[in-house]
Order: sequence, then C-alpha cells, then structure tokens
Amino acid sequence: MAFIDWDETYSVGVEMINNQHKRLFALINDFHSAKSNLEQAIQDLLSYVDFHFKTEEKYFEEFGYEKTGEHKQQHHFYEKKIKDLYAQCLQEKVDEGKISAEMESFVKDWISQHIHISDKEYSKCFHEHGLK
Ligand SMILES: [Fe+2]
Ligand SMILES: [Fe+2]
Repeated sequence: MAFIDWDETYSVGVEMINNQHKRLFALINDFHSAKSNLEQAIQDLLSYVDFHFKTEEKYFEEFGYEKTGEHKQQHHFYEKKIKDLYAQCLQEKVDEGKISAEMESFVKDWISQHIHISDKEYSKCFHEHGLK
C-alpha cells in the first residue's frame, strides 16, 4: 500500500482537478520513498503544488468563488510551510530524517484535510460554471 492513496472520498467531481490531486499524491509517495535526494523531492513537490494551487485559484477568480480569500490563505500557509522545511533542508548539519518525517506527516495530513473539506466546497461552484 502506498503512503497516501487517492480514493473516491477525495473526488471533487471535476476530472482535471482529480487528476492533479492524484499526481500530487504520487509526488508525495515519491517523496516518502526518496530517502536519498530529499532536496530534489521537495523541489518537485513544491513546483507541482504551485502549479496545482494556481489552477484552482484561476477558476476561483474566473467564477467569482465566494471563499476565494480563505482558500487562498490555506494554500499560502501550505506553501510557506513546505518552503520553510526546504530552507531547513539546505542548511548544513541538517537532520534529514527529522525534516522528512515532519514534512511527510504535515503534507499527508494537511492535503487530506484540505481536499476533503476545502476543495470539496468549490465543487458546486465549479459545476455551476460547467467544469466537470
Ligand atoms: Fe486541491
Ligand atoms: Fe485547494
């Protein structure tokens, strides 16, 4: 079993977004198994996270989604946390094991919660604007 598995409970009812979430989970799993090049794994995760958040936010603006502000704040918090961990990782004498453990639990818990609660809230709005 993978570290984090996508299942139907994560569906936001929009195929393109579901695919991005699946890709995100795959990168989190890569991160989990990539014990050797932590730096690269964090970078890969960060750049995909950035791409994904921008996709969601582009639709929020386009559709005038009512929770745009608070949702973007959550994204911002998440990116900042990953960047902080990345910065720690670049320091000398770093305890990579500790950082990756912290990162893993943060990423997994946060993303599950974020998709299950916040992302699912935009389904109705996205559907109303024809995104399926
Ligand atoms: Fe998302
Ligand atoms: Fe989101």
